[in-house]
Amino acid sequence: MIIAGNLKTNHTRASTKDYIEILNKFMYVNSIKDKVYIFPPFTAIDNFITNVKVGIQNAYPTESGSFTGEIGFSQIEEFKIDTILIGHSERRHILGESNELIQEKFNFFKEKNFIIFYCIGEPLEIRKQGLDAVLEYIDNQLIGIDLNYENLIIAYEPVWAIGTGVSASVKEIKETHLALKEKFSKPLLYGGSVKPSSVKEILEIDEVDGVLIGTASWKIEDFNKILEISKEI
Ligand code: PGA
Repeated sequence: MIIAGNLKTNHTRASTKDYIEILNKFMYVNSIKDKVYIFPPFTAIDNFITNVKVGIQNAYPTESGSFTGEIGFSQIEEFKIDTILIGHSERRHILGESNELIQEKFNFFKEKNFIIFYCIGEPLEIRKQGLDAVLEYIDNQLIGIDLNYENLIIAYEPVWAIGTGVSASVKEIKETHLALKEKFSKPLLYGGSVKPSSVKEILEIDEVDGVLIGTASWKIEDFNKILEISKEI
């Protein structure tokens, strides 16, 4: 099982350090065998000595250069980081990233052999039109993405479920994952308001290979609770 926490714009350098220390210890004491990934904000990235895999939430597809406010490969490489989130719905819909820029990022970090968490998912008006419309929308997000890339992990995250407290239902997750698994054979995570109270039923869905968690990962107690639950599945 893959359990990933996206800290988004939360936690400081100091609190991230504490978070990762507590998490690492928890995983050791409880013999957690899941693959655990944490995506802290840029300012908190460090050379952590930990079993937790640390990735970045975003980067610009460049070695270095003039891209004010962005970071490129040379800034990431310094920390020996090889994992990145690409296509997150907040980058698509709040920061206005186009499919073209997202493809460029994908190809750049694929060339660097990064583990890529590629996020896909539909807005509410599409979901309301039914599963076929959802799949058509997602097909568009998969254009130009090498679905055979060996270090690819895909996260299905319906936009309407992210940060809203309302997860997709087990039925919606199951039918969407089933259909997506016909398109590619990569680990497929679900994301969107996963909580300690809902993670069990979500991880029990056969077509779910793990979860990408936002809000419920910000408090280490909640995230550890999720790991504890996943251990029993
Ligand atoms: P959420 O975020 O758990 O707060 O819905 C999920 C995500 O953005 O990956």
